[in-house]
Amino acid sequence: MNTKIILLFFLCLLIGCGENLTITPQEKKQAQIIGQESSTTVLRVMMMKLMEEIQQGGTVKAAKFCSVHAQELTSQIQEKFTKKITIKRTSQKNRNQKNTPNNEEKQALKFFVEEIKTKKQAPSHHLVKVRLDDQLFINYYKPLYVAPLCIQCHGSEVNLKPELKKMLKEKYPNDKAVNFKKGDFRGVLKISIPVAELK
Ligand code: HEC
Repeated sequence: MNTKIILLFFLCLLIGCGENLTITPQEKKQAQIIGQESSTTVLRVMMMKLMEEIQQGGTVKAAKFCSVHAQELTSQIQEKFTKKITIKRTSQKNRNQKNTPNNEEKQALKFFVEEIKTKKQAPSHHLVKVRLDDQLFINYYKPLYVAPLCIQCHGSEVNLKPELKKMLKEKYPNDKAVNFKKGDFRGVLKISIPVAELK
């Protein structure tokens, strides 16, 4: 009886009850180019805007910018690319509920945490092929680390400016994105690329 179940299981694997989601060398090469190019642009624009806002209006204004416009900014950046990519920021310790990781993203976050733990350093990116409904995607994950600039909004809770603390409490009652130290792994930037775009 048990042997039959085991045989059925392997038969199922063989005839494709589980889809083969191996990334071909060609897909890998192209996904790396698109992923690197778009993630660099996204991070550069976000950093520039954040610094601009901090200089002009201080941390609270910048944090408001971050919460109101982050999504908008992402769509603007998306328009710059001819490829139909989608962009998401996610973290195990997220501030905005909307940025909560799904199961696949949790796995990717775990991958980076483990790499950092065992090898002291994570790779520059991580590729995962997935099927969503009838479409195949390659997800390019880029790890994000805490730079000195990030500390004023994601650092030690007791050191946050009172005005900022108040704003964060009101807007993000379930905020988990505090108490980070410089150099900590903060989360990932995920660029989803439809496999159809790679041809
Ligand atoms: C001026 C304050 C401020 C600064 C500086 C700042 N952040 Fe944020 N960050 C926020 C706010 C507010 C959100 C929530 C955005 C939203 O509502 O989508 C956020 C969200 C994020 C997210 C998305 C996941 C989540 O927690 O919801 C990541 C990742 C992130 N920040 C990383 C960084 C990194 C890395 C830096 C430094 C380069 C940084 N942040 C600097 C205020 C800031």
